[in-house]
Amino acid sequence: MFDINSLLRPHLRNLTPYSSARDEFSGTAQVYLDANENSFGSATAEDFNRYPDPHQRRVKRMLARLKEVPADQIFLGNGSDEPIDLLIRAFCQPGQDHILILPPTYGMYSVSATINGVGVREVLLRPNFSLDANAVLSNTDRNSKILFICSPNNPTGNLMDRVAVEKLLQEFPGLVVVDEAYIDYCREDSWTCRLEEFPNLVVLQTFSKAWGLAALRLGMAFASRELIEILNKIKPPYNISQLSQQYALRAITNRDKMKRQLALTLFERQQLEQRLPQLAIVEKVYPSEANFLLVKVQEARPLYDFLLEKGIVVRDRSRVQLCEGCLRITVGTPNENEQLLEALAAFSVKEKQAI
Ligand SMILES: Cc1ncc(COP(=O)(O)O)c(C=O)c1O
Repeated sequence: MFDINSLLRPHLRNLTPYSSARDEFSGTAQVYLDANENSFGSATAEDFNRYPDPHQRRVKRMLARLKEVPADQIFLGNGSDEPIDLLIRAFCQPGQDHILILPPTYGMYSVSATINGVGVREVLLRPNFSLDANAVLSNTDRNSKILFICSPNNPTGNLMDRVAVEKLLQEFPGLVVVDEAYIDYCREDSWTCRLEEFPNLVVLQTFSKAWGLAALRLGMAFASRELIEILNKIKPPYNISQLSQQYALRAITNRDKMKRQLALTLFERQQLEQRLPQLAIVEKVYPSEANFLLVKVQEARPLYDFLLEKGIVVRDRSRVQLCEGCLRITVGTPNENEQLLEALAAFSVKEKQAI
């Protein structure tokens, strides 16, 4: 039987969390003199002088309906980078435990682990970017506390095989975090619908991608009640600002714009998937379930520099293992994608002339 408390670092088992003014009184009153706020208002035209709800109750109530996950199984973080850090801090003993990651993948898992003095064990994806569950399990021991699976994966764009993920959920001894930052762009269901089955499952999502709210810094973690309670205990008390909560509520209540942008992104991704391979310098466009494409090109670095000269910045992934020769290109607006394709065509011509 999976026991979250035995996985938790011993010094946190009996932690008494900080109790904020808003924890101790959450009703409505005439006069608030409990939190050392500025009673006169703010230095700006709009008022932000009151601390926000530390438990983000309204946002979670709305999200619960949208995601079909009970509100007490939702954690909100300052970007999904915050729950990544909090999970490592809660469950990995520095100098002793390690996380497992599946490169090439999102860079913050290993950065967060390293900041926390926690080891990182790497199990490479297969050359076709699929997940080898047996290789993960054979690299696992009793100090393996968290496995990060990114699906759809950044920077490769593919989904991880559900059977392999399920095997890992059943057999990995620690937490299995499925990072679904790009879930809205793909055709598969979220792993959130399997939370009841797997007490060791944590699903991460974010408002930074399909919702278009990267500047707000708002990420979500979905997990068992017990695990969410642990994250709530160790988070900074007011980790989600009032503005973020307000705008998140607005976004959730009116999803039309998000849906329209999602459809546009998927259409533009398809256009790029069709047109990029027609260019001489493009060797391969990997299939993508996200809002970016991993593109193998001739001369990745010179091409990256050439694009920069044209004012177009993409991500150079050419020195990342298994992504040799690749650039990661975010799907832009039709106009931005036209500029990109034109610049790529101009580079092809330049290359031909150089030969
Ligand atoms: C796979 C993945 N997870 C998490 C994040 C971080 O998202 P946030 O903006 O919510 O911190 C990113 C950002 O690019 C990402 O690619």
